[in-house]
Amino acid sequence: MAALPSRYELAGRAALVTGAGGLLGRQHVAALVEAGARVVVTDVGLAQAEAAIAALKHSTPSADLIALALDVTSLESVRAAYADLTSSGITVDILVNNAAIDPKVTSTPGVMHSSRFEAFPVPQWQTEIAVGLTGAMLCSQVFGGAMARRGRGVILNIASDLGVIAPDQRLYRQPNITRDEEQPVKPVTYSVIKHGLIGLTKYLATYWADRGVRVNAISPGGVFNNQDPVFVERLTRLIPMGRMARVDEYCAAVQFLCSDASSYMTGQNIVMDGGRSVW
Ligand SMILES: NC(=O)c1ccc[n+]([C@@H]2O[C@H](COP(=O)([O-])OP(=O)(O)OC[C@H]3O[C@@H](n4cnc5c(N)ncnc54)[C@H](O)[C@@H]3O)[C@@H](O)[C@H]2O)c1
Repeated sequence: MAALPSRYELAGRAALVTGAGGLLGRQHVAALVEAGARVVVTDVGLAQAEAAIAALKHSTPSADLIALALDVTSLESVRAAYADLTSSGITVDILVNNAAIDPKVTSTPGVMHSSRFEAFPVPQWQTEIAVGLTGAMLCSQVFGGAMARRGRGVILNIASDLGVIAPDQRLYRQPNITRDEEQPVKPVTYSVIKHGLIGLTKYLATYWADRGVRVNAISPGGVFNNQDPVFVERLTRLIPMGRMARVDEYCAAVQFLCSDASSYMTGQNIVMDGGRSVW
């Protein structure tokens, strides 16, 4: 593979990715490795982080990767990860806030669906906000705070096209359910978290603009991952490019936003959604 232009080079820098054991987290790690970074691969359990490393080592044996358990909902866990890394002489230059819960939209006929706004359970609201939004705040507080003290660093928040548009609930309708209140919907939490992450991006970008810390976001559209064909067909009709994303189509944006290639950019959100949000 041809080397990346030097402005994308991340050799000598360490990145930390949260929720890195998941579908896109692994891609962010691979993108950062390709640009030459050492990457701290974190997930809520060590097993998920180690599995991601094993998969990546298979294709890139020379990758410089460290597995760490990091529960983004717990300030103690975030502080412990920071202390662990500091005692090993590792300074995090790049933080990718990627962890989230994306509850699957399924149905149970006969009762008002719990995903519906009128019935949405407060404990579920709290759990999802804790991971997707509070988690990004806590990791930014600890790792971004250290970057600000050093006068250098980058934070990348992984938002969503649903951070700039509302979900189209027709996508999730089940043909066998006749009563509206039994129809599942994309939960309110996803919208609130993703819009909130874009707000956090702007807030921190300006808060730390004079401290050498840049903060940006990516808003990816849906990645094709063998979803139900009816859902895929409905969704792709809403996308001008007529298809969902391939899993590796956000890698170049991660490299751009985490490197000096984007040195004059902060507080921005790059929407990569096949054009869905402009139709
Ligand atoms: N996949 C898509 O189509 C898509 C589209 C737009 C945006 N996104 C966003 O991209 C990011 C990654 O999505 P994904 O598809 O890889 O999801 P995923 O479910 O595959 O991965 C999410 C990861 O977060 C981890 N996690 C959950 N709770 C955690 C906690 N308390 N602490 C630390 N980690 C925790 C999970 O263990 C999992 O590995 C998410 O923010 C998601 O909202 C995904």
